[in-house]
Amino acid sequence: MRRDDSIPAIATQLRYAQLCRKHLEEKGILDTRFRLQKLADATVALPVLSARVPELTLGVLQHSVAPGSTCTITHIQSPVPSKKSSVRSSQQQLEEALRGLVERGGEVWSEELGRDLPQSWKRHGDLAILGEATFRQPVWKILEPELWEAVASTLGVKRVARMGRVSTDGFRTPTVTLLRGQDGWVQHVDNGIRYEFDVTKCMFSSGNITEKLRIASFNCSGETVVDLYAGIGYFTLPYLVHAGASFVHACEWNPHAVNALRRNLELNGAAQRCQVHQGDNRQNLCLQEVCDPSSPAGKAACDSDTADSRESALGLHCRDSMRITVKAEWQAWSKAAACRIAALLLEIKGQPWRTHVLHMEHVKSYAPHVDHIVLDLECRPT
Ligand SMILES: C[S@@+](CC[C@H](N)C(=O)[O-])C[C@H]1O[C@@H](n2cnc3c(N)ncnc32)[C@H](O)[C@@H]1O
Repeated sequence: MRRDDSIPAIATQLRYAQLCRKHLEEKGILDTRFRLQKLADATVALPVLSARVPELTLGVLQHSVAPGSTCTITHIQSPVPSKKSSVRSSQQQLEEALRGLVERGGEVWSEELGRDLPQSWKRHGDLAILGEATFRQPVWKILEPELWEAVASTLGVKRVARMGRVSTDGFRTPTVTLLRGQDGWVQHVDNGIRYEFDVTKCMFSSGNITEKLRIASFNCSGETVVDLYAGIGYFTLPYLVHAGASFVHACEWNPHAVNALRRNLELNGAAQRCQVHQGDNRQNLCLQEVCDPSSPAGKAACDSDTADSRESALGLHCRDSMRITVKAEWQAWSKAAACRIAALLLEIKGQPWRTHVLHMEHVKSYAPHVDHIVLDLECRPT
């Protein structure tokens, strides 16, 4: 029987949850006040705004958005408030606490100071990373270090840091500054995988979740994967832990990221199946034997995961304003990429290769009209 504190939801399998969530959010059907919930049968319940979700929506989810999924109406008992709604109440608490601090310090509270407070923050365990454009007014400097103590206790963390721009040093080092705390090492558990890294020295793109779940759902048993631009193992680990890849060659040049990558391989019991190649991916990489499908080493997969790496390698970015046009652009881009890589392979190998687009997916937008697109391209000698 349904209890009073339950809310309506759509249940679907774990691997389709993010696709369905994205669609329901775009259509204004997702109830963003509550969190997604894992159900006892290993499906995921996505909270929705009305118990009377039209059959049409279920049909669209099952046939167009996430083909192969099963979507049914269910209820979530005792729903947990979403991050968004708890962030809203923490924002109010933060403003109250800091207003008190400012006034006790003999300063005058102003709307401008209110606008200087963070609207959101990223939490990694006991460390909160505030946005770049926060606490810029001179008065905050006077209130240190009490200011950061107040921020930490209101947000329920021990350490506080502030985000800067991702640097253009090639290591994509985030310019994160620690404002309270001794070190920037954090732990992040994602889809059953433990990642540890120093937020002040390595980047971590939690926004690539759809792609990471897609990789986790692959069956790579018997396959060797080459992960170029591996970072701290954001894709290397799902290949090893969930997709069951036999071996991964992870290539990365940032020594801090390499350090974290080795640690994460150990933490997840995958170190024996991964070789870390520290250095510039464009030089000194002797992986011909393992990632060349024409070699006797057999079947292999090559993954170069980031838009930056792929797009800059190909000199291609997708830019446009209208969604439908963008999709046509993506198609054109994938064809251009397939032709370009076939041409490069012909040049390098001296024999014709066939390149075939297996899958294409939009991961996220970096900036207006600049998108991160994943392309699965099969390359074989003809
Ligand atoms: C955008 S990050 C992606 C990391 C990881 N794949 C992820 O999605 O979280 C790009 C990574 O590539 C590394 N990188 C950039 N250029 C490189 C090069 N020429 N050789 C090796 N690594 C490189 C950077 O240090 C950084 O860790």
